[in-house]
Amino acid sequence: MQTIFSGIQPSGTLTLGNYLGALQQFVELQDEYDCYFCIVDEHAITVPQDRLALRKNIKSLAALYLASGIDPNKVTLFIQSEVTEHVQLAWILQSISYVGELERMTQYKDKSQGKEAVSSALLTYPSLMAADILLYNTNVVPVGDDQKQHLELTRNLAQRFNHRFNDIFTIPEIRIPKVGARIMSLQDPTKKMSKSDTNQKGYISMLDEPKQIEKKIKSAVTDSEGIVQFDKENKPGVSNLLTIYSVCTGESIESIEEKYAGKGYGDFKQGTADAVINVLVPIQEKYNELIDSEELDVILDKGADKASFTAGKTLKKAKKAVGLGRVR
Ligand code: TYM
Repeated sequence: MQTIFSGIQPSGTLTLGNYLGALQQFVELQDEYDCYFCIVDEHAITVPQDRLALRKNIKSLAALYLASGIDPNKVTLFIQSEVTEHVQLAWILQSISYVGELERMTQYKDKSQGKEAVSSALLTYPSLMAADILLYNTNVVPVGDDQKQHLELTRNLAQRFNHRFNDIFTIPEIRIPKVGARIMSLQDPTKKMSKSDTNQKGYISMLDEPKQIEKKIKSAVTDSEGIVQFDKENKPGVSNLLTIYSVCTGESIESIEEKYAGKGYGDFKQGTADAVINVLVPIQEKYNELIDSEELDVILDKGADKASFTAGKTLKKAKKAVGLGRVR
């Protein structure tokens, strides 16, 4: 069985973009692959976090993974900082990462732009991400479109390491969903939907109430044509809503276009809101049952143990290849 690894940052409540671009595919893949899904809290602290909010978000993300349909009997679900091998391998990979290539990462450029004090961890973020993936001999990494560049770098680092030291790492493949890989902001459909958006109307949180979801979709930016048609370049707002509708219902974009032919955006937006609500409400119900349960801790403890076991073996090989420590 091939191995999958993916991670999500606990840096706020997840958005519909995180769900459609990542979580939804995780659920589909869990039957066919040996899956490791991680709450990457060490990545989250590359930008300032409130201590209590971070703790809360870590638990909340664990509950959201499960509420979305992740089955802890099939996958290994764990918290990154509870498996210390991640930072240890990250350090080794930093020693073969070049400052120039790290500075070229668009996420680094976006997050550091205009800031006076940028942490060095923000720069070395991709080396930690590479460590996450390479520790588990990962074959496939399911992610949204925005992680493409980080995955390319992971592959380069793995090849560089294998070439320079010893052939240890599996070179991972990226897996991006055909539709929904880049859900855009509802207020500015040329920007991706992001949980760090200062305008809350730009994103739908997975825990938004149905009324809020409806309100946000109704005020989504479209155009004045009144034609429900997919045309990313000229109609980015409508195209984004069509994508959301299609991924939430499984209906093809063409059939949605047909359904709303001759009708205005009002009907179409209502249909989109209903589609999103139908997906999110059952997840929210399960989330509320799980969030304060002890079951969550048992699952995360078990996940950390299992992840540590595999990660420990890879780290040992990597240290030996590099020449760290003693031979024993
Ligand atoms: P993060 O936490 O920003 O996002 C988690 C996942 O959600 C996807 N995503 C989206 N997909 C579609 N439309 C959007 N608007 C949208 N916004 C986010 C992301 O592509 C991602 O798949 N660096 C990663 C976390 C990470 C990781 C890893 C991922 C750390 N280590 C190892 C894979 C493997 C990140 O910041 O994701």
